Amino acid sequence: MKLTCLVDNAVQPHSASWGEHGLAFLIESEEGWLLFDTGASGAVLLHNLEVAEVAPRSISALVLSHSHWDHTGGLSALLERVPGLPIYAHPDLVRERFSRRGGEVQAKGLPLALEALRLSAAPQEVLPGIWTTGEISERPEPEGRSPHHFVRDGEGWAPDPYRDDMSLVLEGSQGLVLICGCCHAGLLNTLLHVRRAFGRDPVAVLGGTHLISADERHLRRLVEVLRRLGPPALYLNHCTGQAAYVVLAQAFGDRVAPCPAGTVLEF
Ligand SMILES: [Fe+2]
Ligand SMILES: [Fe+2]
Repeated sequence: MKLTCLVDNAVQPHSASWGEHGLAFLIESEEGWLLFDTGASGAVLLHNLEVAEVAPRSISALVLSHSHWDHTGGLSALLERVPGLPIYAHPDLVRERFSRRGGEVQAKGLPLALEALRLSAAPQEVLPGIWTTGEISERPEPEGRSPHHFVRDGEGWAPDPYRDDMSLVLEGSQGLVLICGCCHAGLLNTLLHVRRAFGRDPVAVLGGTHLISADERHLRRLVEVLRRLGPPALYLNHCTGQAAYVVLAQAFGDRVAPCPAGTVLEF
């Protein structure tokens, strides 16, 4: 199975791909092309698809990891070119959400009424050997939260619980591969969920892990548990954060690598 990091904050040296604060992965399976997230803009998504020599119309399914704009911003441009594209996500994808900074409140939900949504909180098989994780319902380990994200709670506000945050699980030739969007549910919670739901640990983890605001204690715990689990190969990007990347690279050496736009991996 061939995986391409299509959109990321960083770009592979000498790649013609464009970068932006956002994320998308392209998966080539025997059953066709699958897109995981759409980056932050149609312009970058469509340009990088052209660089990858993949016509939008040849994409047979889209999975959205969660509703945030840096993962869904390319959606309307994609749907203009591929009307009716099946979209897999968690039911909370379409709930109202807000960002609060100082006194300013901004609506941050998905601005689209989507037709072909296949919403489920349970794992869904998207193509043979490729599943959504379903909701990461048990979260005993630290999550990847932002202090600015809120949902309505009666008359007031509550922190966004990110129930819609899901990752993707793929059956590769060497074992399961996990692709994360932002991993707001927390990387360890997501890994424990995969073990419970799929009966095995992933041999590799790709994508954004939202460790950008993790404190020292969180990172120490992450290293300790990963060491106990037997660390997967980590291809980290997007909202992982430089400090977390350095801590993980120091702990696990060449099992850790960056994953900028233009990275192609075979599993
Ligand atoms: Fe993100
Ligand atoms: Fe996010």
